[in-house]
This record gives sequence, structure tokens and C-alpha cells, in this order.
Amino acid sequence: MNNLSPAEMVLMRKAGQITRDALNYVETLIKPGISTLELDKFAKKFIIDSGATPSFLNYEGYPASICASVNDMVVHGIPSDKIILKEGDIISIDLGVIYKGYNGDAARTFPVGKISPEKARLIEVTKQSFFEGIKHLKVGHRLGEVGHAIQEYAESHGYSVVRELVGHGIGKKMHEPPNVPNYGKVTDGPLVTENACLAIEPMINMGKRGVWLLEDGWGVITQDGLPSAHYENTVHVTREGVEILTL
Ligand code: MF3
Ligand code: CO
Repeated sequence: MNNLSPAEMVLMRKAGQITRDALNYVETLIKPGISTLELDKFAKKFIIDSGATPSFLNYEGYPASICASVNDMVVHGIPSDKIILKEGDIISIDLGVIYKGYNGDAARTFPVGKISPEKARLIEVTKQSFFEGIKHLKVGHRLGEVGHAIQEYAESHGYSVVRELVGHGIGKKMHEPPNVPNYGKVTDGPLVTENACLAIEPMINMGKRGVWLLEDGWGVITQDGLPSAHYENTVHVTREGVEILTL
């Protein structure tokens, strides 16, 4: 687990703020008729104009600045001019930036126009599962307490937790040890240490947990075709509590 200095945390906070601001900006653009490629172009410009770099662009060959995952797409949807948002869709936007060498990473699921109560509940429960998880993110406790709480909360609402993708340490690199699963036992994982930065990111399916990887090598979709939601923040663990850097 990383251990960032106060000087490094100044830069992590700035990276987190740009990440949050970019997500909030993308949210204002979401409406029926816009393509996910247009969202990507606007997000990229916003990030660069903010003095940061889109961390996803060219990451292991990823071709865009955001992931835009509609309805049954769980994560890593590649933006496309062929994917046009329509009323009733939900769209998960995942976005990361590098500011002066430090990373911010966050995701939200947004409604497109008016959505069904079922989809609205999925978005709310996914978001709340993150907050249930970080209640258990404490110095000296097992990291597994976090995933256990997320899983318990999501499953108690009749949903399932994606297992193939997990949260992660974050700092000078977007992905650092340890893995942060959104499921498991309270006795799993390492002990949480002071001044660690982590990206906690539940991916919750309305139906069964199984997923497929698309032939583009990135997109992850639900096997049962039911919707999925994503909620992620970059957080900093201190003795006083958890500081959310991307909210
Ligand atoms: N933001 C994703 C994560 O939370 C990573 C996106 S993969 C990328 O770990 F290739 F798009 F960057
Ligand atoms: Co992440």
C-alpha cells in the first residue's frame, strides 16, 4: 500500500478536483441525441484546459480519454459516434487524469432524461454501496472489510457484484497494489495503512454477476443483458478518517 507525503497529497487533491470537475462537466452534456464520442472529445478538452492529462488515453492501448458504458455495459465502453444516447438509458462515465505526476480516478452512472424507477434504484444503491464500504476503511483494519460491506449492501438489495474487475491503489500510477475487491470476507486482504490512496469502485449488476468481454478487447457487458452501474472515487486514508479526493 502506498504512503503519500503531505507534499504529494497537495498534488493528489488537485488531480482529484480536476477529475471531479471533468465528470461534473460531462454530466451537463448528457442528453438524448449526443454520441459517446462527443462526450469523449469534450472531456478531453476540459482535462487538458485544466492543466492535466487524460490518463486513460493510450493506457495499455486504450483509444479514448473516458470510458462511456451504456445500460448493460459494465465498464470500459469505448466512445463511438455510433453510440447515441436516448431517453431512458443509463451511462457510466469513468474518467482519470494525471496532474503533475499524480492520478485521480472516478466514475459515476448518470440517467439520460427520464429513466425507469428500477434503473434509478440501481444507480442509488451502487452509489450507496461505496459509502457503506468506506465506513469500514480504517487504519489497522483489514481491507477486506470494505469489499465485504459493499457486497452485503448490494446483495441485500437483490443485486450482484462484478468480480472480474476491482478497485486499486492509486498515486504516481493509476493502478498500484493492492487490489480492492468489491466482495469477500472481512479477513481478506492486507491491513490498511496510514496515508494510503485507493480507488474504490463498486460495479453492481441488476441481475446476475456474470460478464463477457467484447471483441474490442475492452468493453465488459452483463451476460444476462440487464443494466449495470459503477461508482468510483479516489480516497485518502488518514487516522482521522477517509478523505474523498474526487467528490
Ligand atoms: N478507470 C479504470 C479503473 O478504474 C481504468 C480504465 S482502463 C483505461 O481502473 F484503459 F481506460 F484506462
Ligand atoms: Co479505477
